[in-house]
Amino acid sequence: MNIKAVIFDLDGVIVSTDQYHYKAWKELADKENIPFDETINNRLRGVSRMESLEIILKNADRSYNDKEKFELTEYKNDIYRKSLEDLSKEDILPGFWDAYHHCRDKDILMAVGSSSKNTKKILKAIDLDDAFDAVADGTDIENSKPDPEVFWTAAARLGVDSKFCLVVEDAVSGIEAAKNGGMVAVAIGDATSSDKADHTIKHLRELIKLL
Ligand code: BG6
Ligand code: MG
Repeated sequence: MNIKAVIFDLDGVIVSTDQYHYKAWKELADKENIPFDETINNRLRGVSRMESLEIILKNADRSYNDKEKFELTEYKNDIYRKSLEDLSKEDILPGFWDAYHHCRDKDILMAVGSSSKNTKKILKAIDLDDAFDAVADGTDIENSKPDPEVFWTAAARLGVDSKFCLVVEDAVSGIEAAKNGGMVAVAIGDATSSDKADHTIKHLRELIKLL
């Protein structure tokens, strides 16, 4: 494979903040008496905050107006951001540094491509704010995954054509975004259930054999 850039998703790939998203949504769903579990949560991976709420509200027994929806996303984000307070570089997932150093040794550029508007806060908390050649996140885009916008933005910032980019994703929507964007898609975690990925890995270290 002639890969010139790797674009890492953030939540659930570099750091386990996906678990914090789940806990915060669960607290909101319990407060509103809406059924919510890990299976529904997997559909929220890679999806923007408001679209995530819309998915959760499909199981509600009443409708919510725009003001209520906005307040609910703020409620969830406050809980989520509190859980980020203890985040540190110790929380970077195993194998990340192996993959990172391998890319640097091979002059492969690296970016983050995340739907999260909290991306920069998280990267700072885990001491990776200067580690990447580009970052594209939820503050840069109109359309979240499976739209390829965030990955195209990352690729444009790196100056690398999509066909030379490899995306690492734990979200089924993220695998679809990578393929919709003409990139190589590598699935880890929950995304390994997707039949659209080009490769599946169990551990980030396995990226090395693909590059
Ligand atoms: C993605 C997560 O990275 O970011 C989604 O996989 C989340 O679960 C989305 O909804 C938006 O995150 P935030 O931090 O902007 O609410
Ligand atoms: Mg993710």
